[in-house]
Amino acid sequence: MPAREIGSEFDLAPRAQGAPREPFGWVQESATRRLASGREALRLILGGLAHAGRSRLVLPAYLCDSVGQATQGAGDWRIEYVPVAPDLTPAPGPLASALQEEPDRTVFVEVQVFNTPYGEHTLEVLSAATRAGVLVVEDRTHSLLSAEQPRRPLAFASVRKWLPLPDGGLAVGTRAPSAPSDEEFVALRRGAMTAKHQFLVHGEGDKSTFLGAIQRGEQALDAATTARTMSSSSRSLLDAANLHTIAARRRANHDLLLGHLGTGAIPRVCRPLEAPLQGAAAPLGLPVLSPTRDALRRHLIEHRVYCPVHWPLPEPVALGRFPTAQSRNRELMTLVIDQRYDAEDMARVAEVLETFARTA
Ligand SMILES: Cc1ncc(COP(=O)(O)O)c(C=O)c1O
Repeated sequence: MPAREIGSEFDLAPRAQGAPREPFGWVQESATRRLASGREALRLILGGLAHAGRSRLVLPAYLCDSVGQATQGAGDWRIEYVPVAPDLTPAPGPLASALQEEPDRTVFVEVQVFNTPYGEHTLEVLSAATRAGVLVVEDRTHSLLSAEQPRRPLAFASVRKWLPLPDGGLAVGTRAPSAPSDEEFVALRRGAMTAKHQFLVHGEGDKSTFLGAIQRGEQALDAATTARTMSSSSRSLLDAANLHTIAARRRANHDLLLGHLGTGAIPRVCRPLEAPLQGAAAPLGLPVLSPTRDALRRHLIEHRVYCPVHWPLPEPVALGRFPTAQSRNRELMTLVIDQRYDAEDMARVAEVLETFARTA
């Protein structure tokens, strides 16, 4: 029998439902708004801010294109990107210049890529900008389960990256009305995820069918211009999820795999991006840099290990003058450490990395 697949989209058992659990801070609080995706949560926030006269959106140059897509249907926004440092946090000098212009019209999205904290200098720039009138919106997508509460009054996150939910995003600090849940979209996503489950667990069906449906779901998200409410099925799955256990499993897998990365020939072909995690941080994945990233990723796929690249950069960044973002983007990929996997799976990923390193 072939080794089991590691990575890629979550699957969902057809009648999945949860058991009672201990709530996890703001993520499961009733005051947190529940939307269909991370970008729709940001869209809801931006729509309210556009009404209040904001029109300029400053974003760090290393981020997912979907963050910029949040402006679709949320008013008239001008997007500007600021360069990032090698740790993918915004460079403080260019950030300060960008935030000095029209502070009363400006919104900055504080994306912490892989939960990398901003340096002291950058945080001082943000404090000064806030005092001058800039609004900061915290993107908690990479730190959903890391600290119990958002630090900023305005915050959002994608939850569908962390849990098997047909749809899911969260918003804090907005009262703007959201659109109804889109049942067609939810049925497409739910169908794709349960078909993946039937394929993985029971060997039923055809892989290309659910991969096609997953892709159509992403295209529908890219095209959306409203901020839709989270579906009732995702709500009940989120309420029932034991996020404490999920955070602990992710952290344990991360630490195990990080340990493996220092062994044998692996350091020759990839090294971790980040400093070791501090405190109780629960990671989304384990980002690594590899000078032969594409060949390494193909080798992993041949061994049924599917690692995402975060992310195809937005076009203005890919075409523009952001050499650090571009060079990091060529080498970066994210090793999978999520709650579906255990120590044995992490050892297998390490073994596949080792076989590549020995022959590279
Ligand atoms: C950092 C970050 N913010 C926001 C989003 C948007 O989330 P969604 O795809 O649920 O709209 C993503 C998606 O990849 C992301 O990585």
